[in-house]
This record gives sequence, C-alpha cells and structure tokens, in this order.
Amino acid sequence: KLNLYIRGETMSTIIYAHRGASKHAPENTMPAFELAYKHGADGIETDVQLTKDNIPVLIHDEQLNRTTNGTGFVKDFTYNELKQLDAGSWKSPHFTDTKIPRLDDLLAWNQGKQLKLNVELKNNIISYQGLEDIVCQKLNEYKMAKQTVISSFNHASITKVNDKNVNIDYALLTGRRNRTLIPYSKKIKAKGIHIGYRLLSNRLVTLANENKLYVAVYTVNSPITINKAIRLGCQALFTDVPKLAIDIKKRR
Ligand code: G3P
Ligand code: CA
Repeated sequence: KLNLYIRGETMSTIIYAHRGASKHAPENTMPAFELAYKHGADGIETDVQLTKDNIPVLIHDEQLNRTTNGTGFVKDFTYNELKQLDAGSWKSPHFTDTKIPRLDDLLAWNQGKQLKLNVELKNNIISYQGLEDIVCQKLNEYKMAKQTVISSFNHASITKVNDKNVNIDYALLTGRRNRTLIPYSKKIKAKGIHIGYRLLSNRLVTLANENKLYVAVYTVNSPITINKAIRLGCQALFTDVPKLAIDIKKRR
C-alpha cells in the first residue's frame, strides 16, 4: 500500500513508470507496462477513460488521433470498435498492432506481479459519468485496491472516490501553484499530492509531509530532475524512463 512515507522515514522514492516505460514503448500499452516491469519499476502510472459502452480503457488523450490509427473521441466508440485500432505503430513499426488495453488487462496482468498502481482518472476535460465507481469496482474485483492510488486533475471527482470506497487511496493532481492544495487535500482525506515538477520545492515537500500528505512528482526524465526529486525526499516520482530512475536511486 502506498502509505504515508514521512521524509526521514522513507526507505526510498517510489519509481512509477509514467504511462509505462513510455520513452521506449508506446505509452499506456501492455508492452510499455511489460518493459517497466522488466526494468524494475516499483509501479505503473496509467490514464483511464470510458468507452461508449462504459469499459475503462487506458489512454491518455480524450481523442484517438495521437496514439492510434483512429480518429475521434474515445467516448464515441465501443470497446469492440477500439480494439480494432493500432496503438503501437505511431511509436515504432516494432509495436504494430498493439491494442489499447482495458483497465482489466492491466489488473489481470498485474496479479502475478503486484506492482503498485496509480490510476489517473482522465476526467478533467470530459466528465465520464460513473468513472470513479467503475474504477473502484474493478480494483476491488481484482483485489488490487491496496496497492493502488487513484488521482485526478478533477478535484471534485476525487471526492467521489471517498464517498463510497473508503479502502482506496486517492490524491489530487495539479501542475499549478495553488495555496488551497494542502488544506483541501486534508479536508477531503487525500493521502497525497501529485505535483508537476515545476512546483517541486523543499518548502512544499516539508509542508505536505508536516500535514501527513505524501508528495509524488511528475514527470521527471532527466538525471538532474530525478536526482532533485529524490534529494528533496519526494515519496514518489513519475518517469518515462524507469530504468534511468532506478539506476540513479541505486547509485545514491
Ligand atoms: O499523473 C501524473 C501525470 O501523468 C499527469 O499528467 O498529462 O501525463 O497525465 P499527464
Ligand atoms: Ca497521467
């Protein structure tokens, strides 16, 4: 479980592979998750949206255009339609015919591995009716609530996780400076804050930890930024290059 790790007591910064090992494999696909596992990531970060028939699928953008050979909005297609698409060849011909995974595919795959998971609800632009409940139900069904934290830029949505699923941790996501972030996180009983790298400072980590909130930082891909996140005692970081982050962590 991603419990609260107060600075000083932290064993080490948790390394989440951001959309899987997304520098070297197509983001949010099974090959990217496999590679993250192979590289020794502690966890996987992924983005979830709903299909027309309410199937949670793992894709970052609301539209299919950038990462598949389809066009249009994820929400306008059934899962059976989406699974015809190629979500790999935009990255490299090596990944041709890689499919958009369902949340179920990730959870089933993780059963033998038990990596930590961060499921980001991608509902800050499109508000998917029932997304919070659907994701929580899946996590419970696969007995994977314990090692998962749910996050969202949609802070109203995150409170809905709390309403019915007291066993699942959640965190607010933000890339913007916001003075109410810590008091609001405490108020809604979030476990942590997931912040954009530009917000990272010693002061913010100290303040969050004093308020019993963990800090996770996104997206750190260079040795300088990875080192800084570890040095400042972030409890977790998100990176497209988990192998690099793990190597840096080991060398420190
Ligand atoms: O959850 C951290 C990070 O993934 C948030 O930004 O745009 O990469 O989903 P984005
Ligand atoms: Ca994300």
